[in-house]
Parts: sequence; structure tokens; C-alpha cells
Amino acid sequence: MATTSMLPDLIADAQTTEEQFLRQIFVRDQMAEWSKEPLVMARADGVHYWDVRGKRYLDALSGIYVVSVGHNNRRVIEAIHRQLDILHFSPSMHGTNPVAVKLANLLAELAPGDLAAVKFECGGAEVTEAAIKLARQYHRLTGSPGKYKVISRYLSWHGSTMGSLSASGLKARKTVNEPLAPGFLHVFPPTCYRCPFGKTYSECGITCATIVGDVIDMEDPDTVAAVMVEPIGHTGGVIDPPDEYLPILREICDRYNVLLIFDEIITGIGRTGRMFAAETFGVVPDVVCVAKGLSGGYAPLSAMICRRPIADAFWGPISENPGFVEGHTFEGNPISCAAGIAVLEEILERDLCANARIQGERLRKGFEALARKYDVVGDIRGKGLFLGIEFVRDRATKERFPAEVAFGVRVGRRALENGLLFRFDPHWIAFGPPLIVTPEHVDEMVAILDRSLDEVLDETAL
Ligand SMILES: Cc1ncc(COP(=O)(O)O)c(C=O)c1O
Repeated sequence: MATTSMLPDLIADAQTTEEQFLRQIFVRDQMAEWSKEPLVMARADGVHYWDVRGKRYLDALSGIYVVSVGHNNRRVIEAIHRQLDILHFSPSMHGTNPVAVKLANLLAELAPGDLAAVKFECGGAEVTEAAIKLARQYHRLTGSPGKYKVISRYLSWHGSTMGSLSASGLKARKTVNEPLAPGFLHVFPPTCYRCPFGKTYSECGITCATIVGDVIDMEDPDTVAAVMVEPIGHTGGVIDPPDEYLPILREICDRYNVLLIFDEIITGIGRTGRMFAAETFGVVPDVVCVAKGLSGGYAPLSAMICRRPIADAFWGPISENPGFVEGHTFEGNPISCAAGIAVLEEILERDLCANARIQGERLRKGFEALARKYDVVGDIRGKGLFLGIEFVRDRATKERFPAEVAFGVRVGRRALENGLLFRFDPHWIAFGPPLIVTPEHVDEMVAILDRSLDEVLDETAL
């Protein structure tokens, strides 16, 4: 019989970075490359991580846009402890539990407009996929059974399951898994800095938005179920739309009886300075999906919130109405929901949405100061505490660094060495620190980024 005493002493508590042990687990990165400089976090507190070697990192990414109320948050931890003693699991196949009902009502209260009915899941992909299924089933129930197509955007990320991946628009993650599900179409996102139509804002007429109407028209409106977008796209490099963009999508969706779904897995729960980015942009979608920051990472939790008239289509006698055909074993888990309630209470009581706006402004000013110092800062984008920088070799022409230079990756890796964690890509970086950050944290983040940029520019033959 296997016992823990069979594990080598070195990894009895898994405090190791040795390749022979790390080879037993898949991580998100390319393994062989990652294991040269593996990042294995051991503990965290507030806005800091410590890895298994004892090195400290300032967390400018909330883990990955998750740790909204900070690490080691006592209110959330105690709420989970209390819930464990009361009810840790309820039969999701047969009903729900009081904690899920409470969180659903809290979310309905906080969500804008008549967004009111909540379906809980465990992660982002589950909930964006649930939103797609909801749209299709809603149209069947309301006399438009032919509506099934989903329009989303290139460069987007909606998750790793086959449905959410089919809606995603990132070739690096899609091609290897093709063929994907049929019924998914993609349009260009509002990358104003590099307009796909060669136009300039605001004389462009917001073609990237109006063309969605043309696509629906060409496809046959009777076949289109939903348009799904992240209010601010992440994986294309923090794609922040012009003010007109989302209102135009809203008007197009209304015109064609198409559901507008906001994937707020990142932007939701205070990140853009309001509880929902829908409020930041003044547009109420038909369905909003939240995840990451909702439980602050203390337990897996996501939620899909739909407008009252849509939920009502799923309410009726069993003879006429099959209910929403979607579910997962761990949906509405009481522990996760207890964490979600505590996170929302923390955000509301400490007014962390306001803090996200204030510290976000400070961070933006810090980035702007770096732009005055370094010509490689091409564009600064985002809202609240979700901000990104696009790097360029030549600011005047917007020419990018060659792929092999992977400038953003160099900056990100150097920052890790310097004790700062943020998201990096060959051409851009993104910050999304916990909503509890102080001005001192923000200044330190900018200072480490400054130093990292300086060092990389010094070393790199560009
Ligand atoms: C915008 C967005 N949608 C969906 C997802 C998928 O979430 P998960 O990884 O929890 O499945 C992510 C994950 O990063 C995301 O950023």
C-alpha cells in the first residue's frame, strides 16, 4: 500500500523546484522551457506571494485576475470555515442550498438593469459555455428554433472547453484542437491602435461595431443566436473599445433579436472600477458571465446572470417547458458561494470599486510617466485596475519588435526576477492587481517595471 512515507523527504510537503518531481504535473506553459526557471508558489498574504525558495513577489495580477480582495483575506477564510461546519455540499441534481440562493439574490441586486437570474458554475469556460446554451435554448423556447450561430471576436478568450474554445478567437490555442464546433463566427475586435479596417477613430464610423450587423444580415438573422464579447478584451493585449462600440452592439442585437453576452470573467466584480464593466460602459447585456474575482480564488466559482425576460422563458408548466438543460456536479457549491458572498461584502463595505478607480488612475499615470521615458511604450489601454501596455520598436510607425525578440516576455521575465508578477506576451503586458492595493503598492509596481524595462533595454540589441 502506498503511504506518504514513500515520498522522498524533499517533496513530503512538495517544496521543490526539481525537474524530476515537476515532470509529474502539466502546467499551462511549455513544460521543458518552464522547468528551467519554474515558478512554484508556496504562500501568499495581501498583495504578495512567496515561492518555494522563499523569494517574495508583488502580485500585480491578482494571481490571474482572480484574487480580488487580496491573499489571506480573513473575512473570506472565516466565512468558508463557518460554512464547512454547516453544509459543504448539497445535491445539485435535485436542487440548491441557502447560500447559493443568497448569493444569487445579492448578484441580482448588484447587477445593472433587469439582469436578475443566476446560474452558478465552477469556472469561466463552464459559464461562457452555459451562456451559449442558454441563448440557443431561449430562442427555441420563444419560437425561433433556427437561431444557433454565435458571433464572437478574433483575439478573444472564452475558455478551454470545446464550446467556449470554439467561440474564442486565439489561433495559438485553437489550431491545435481543430476541428472545433460548428456554428461559431468571428469578427475583428476594436483594436483602434491598429484598426483592422485601416481607419482612424473617430472618423471611422465605428466600422468594427456596425459590421456585426452586416454579418448577421449576411448570415441570415434567423440563424444567429448570440453575440459574445469581453467588454475589454484581454488576450489581444487589453482591447479597450471606444465609447460607442458596446452601445452599437446593443442596438444591433436588439434589432435582430440576438442575445448580447458579456464575458466579464476578468472585467467583472470591481475590476474596471464598477461592479460590472457593463456599468463602466453604460450598456446592459442580455447575459453577463463572471468568474475569477467573484470568489477571489478562495474556491472555484462562476456565475451567469441573465435578464428577467430571458429567465421567464424558462419558467412554465413542465409540459411546455423543459427547464435550462445545463449543469455540473459542483454548481452552486455552498463553500464557493460562501466565499462569493464574503468577497462581495468585502468589496461593498470597503468600497473597493472606488479604490480600483483611484489606484487605477495612479497606475495609468505611472505608465504614462514610463511612456515619456521609454519610446517602446506604444499604447496604454484599459480601465480601472485592468491596464495594459503595447510595446513597439518604433513609436512613429507602430512597428512591432520581431517575434524572436519577444520584448514583452523579456520584460515580464525580468520583472519576475525583480519580484513583480504581471501578465506578459511578446508584444504587450497587462496589470490587474488586487482591488485592495494601496498607493505605495502601485508606486512600487511602477518602479519595478521601470527598472525591468531599463535593464532589458540595456541588454537587448534592438
Ligand atoms: C475573458 C475570459 N473568459 C473566460 C475564461 C475562461 O475561464 P476559466 O479559465 O476559469 O475556464 C478566461 C480565463 O482566463 C477569460 O480570461
